[in-house]
Amino acid sequence: MRLNIIVVIFVFFNSSISWSQEALLSNVYNRNTISLDGEWSYIVDPYENGYYNYRYEAFDESENPGRAAFFLNSKALDASDLIEYDFDKSDKLNVPGDWNTQRENLYYYEGTIWYKRSFDFEKSNKTNRVYVYFGACNYQADVYLNGKKLGRHEGGFTPFNFEITENLKEKDNFLIVKVDNKRKKEGVPTLNTDWWNYGGLTRSVKLVETPENYIRDHFIQLNPEDSERIVGKIQLSGKNIDGKKIEIKIKDLDIDLEVESDQNGQVLFSVRSAHISYWSPGNPRLYEIEIKTAHEVLKDQIGFRTIRTKGSKILLNGNQVFLKGICIHEESPITNGRANSKQDAEKLLGWAEELGCNFVRLAHYPHNEEMVRLADRKGIMVWAETPVYWTIQWENSETYKNAEAQLSAVIYRDRNRASVIIWSMANETPVSEARNLFLTKLSETTRKLDPTRLISAALEQGNYEGNPNIRTITDPFADQVDVLSFNQYIGWYDGLPDKCKRVGWKIAQDKPVLISEFGAGAKFGMHGDKMDRWTEEYQAYLYEETLEMLDGIEQLQGISPWILRDFRSPRRPLPGIQDGWNRKGLISDKSEKKQAFNILQKYYETK
Ligand code: GCU
Repeated sequence: MRLNIIVVIFVFFNSSISWSQEALLSNVYNRNTISLDGEWSYIVDPYENGYYNYRYEAFDESENPGRAAFFLNSKALDASDLIEYDFDKSDKLNVPGDWNTQRENLYYYEGTIWYKRSFDFEKSNKTNRVYVYFGACNYQADVYLNGKKLGRHEGGFTPFNFEITENLKEKDNFLIVKVDNKRKKEGVPTLNTDWWNYGGLTRSVKLVETPENYIRDHFIQLNPEDSERIVGKIQLSGKNIDGKKIEIKIKDLDIDLEVESDQNGQVLFSVRSAHISYWSPGNPRLYEIEIKTAHEVLKDQIGFRTIRTKGSKILLNGNQVFLKGICIHEESPITNGRANSKQDAEKLLGWAEELGCNFVRLAHYPHNEEMVRLADRKGIMVWAETPVYWTIQWENSETYKNAEAQLSAVIYRDRNRASVIIWSMANETPVSEARNLFLTKLSETTRKLDPTRLISAALEQGNYEGNPNIRTITDPFADQVDVLSFNQYIGWYDGLPDKCKRVGWKIAQDKPVLISEFGAGAKFGMHGDKMDRWTEEYQAYLYEETLEMLDGIEQLQGISPWILRDFRSPRRPLPGIQDGWNRKGLISDKSEKKQAFNILQKYYETK
């Protein structure tokens, strides 16, 4: 049945923003792809000898790079020829995966490693286009196909792609990636973090084949002002993309629209439906969406819900919701390295469910897409974050562009995910004029790209009118966010757990408050008095005292304690206790639950 279409053009879909270096393919999860995962040859290159000549000039910036450049995959022509590298005789690393946990001699390595993969590829239709798509690569990637540079991407946790249609061969293609995980002062994140600097092609690499004219992007969700109306934007890419018929089908809602693209290959549509089953933790209803053109059918699985604040409340589908959360780092309980698989996501979110969570803070950077897609299916709300963390170079315009590109990329990848309800701008960043401007610009960009989700940040807090026993939010950025979040460590970095009884909180703003971190370190199996640091008893005691203290905050609408599982950090060397792990997990690095796990679980049962 074709519905009468009321096509109302919504201003907020008409946002245009410069993406990272090449337009991102969206919804690769559901596209026609060929995996390049598996064993890749690699060469460790700490002096970047495969990139610079002995005069330190970049091979890929010179007309005649010679044959020493690693991205040429040169071979000795005969027994007298001098070539000092050979990928095909080199060791192999698994992709996706960090290098640190695959080779003992790479555990602390920070520098360049070259990866190489050969492949054959025959297009299924000669006019089709082909892209190489990276789920993520930490930290910087220079990508070459058949000796030709495709481009560079900076940022360790967001997807990127390059079109390779023109220089693809049917046989013996060689894809070479220079991966450099050196930390940079001007980077995002900057030099200092409290997590392991896993380097490598840490997420899947795929070839994506599309028709010459294809559906590049869609953004489909409830109209925030009318929960019986679905609005959407579809963007075609290619030649002659104007005036193209597009069919949008949502079978379970009896929606079957036929619309036509405008001169820019774009369609904005709106359609009424009174039968929508709204997505929520108790009802993670996803609808199969079909977008059909003359050349392809692209599907997606989308949940419809509204999220907004009203005074100090957070309303999901108009109903107040308390965010029963936990923080999670992207670390695999299976490999103990960077997480990237469905199995990793199942394990991590399975523990969150066992805790009684309806919310997860994916700290401190965009996690892999398996996590947000599974959160959609499980009905777990998500705080998404980019690594604008601690002492970023606020005055550096390149640093800002990098932060904005990373945030834009994760919004672009995940804005059809009902589970994502909060975009976070920063974590524990020192207040200054430059930092406030940086974060304000970031939040303005976010609202332009996606005005339908909430904005937050782990803000700075301090003493109320100088009184150390009354804490408040002292951060000017509080005026810009929808949800007031902050990390507080009374009882760990600030006194002992019994101090919680002596501290009160006075939050001035009439906005929801979310405690984005609290916690204590405990070595699993270490027992003693509840005032003995590193014992499970101390951590459990801190949780009990903190939860009681936080319940005293009138605007409290959620918590996400730090953290689900112990995680690797070079900042945590204490022998016999930390041994290179941050021990604030409720679960150990060997997947053993500590006493505090049950304290939080019982607390959530009361919420
Ligand atoms: C900070 C920070 C975390 C860090 C934690 C800790 O609040 O946000 O990234 O790991 O405290 O010190 O354990």
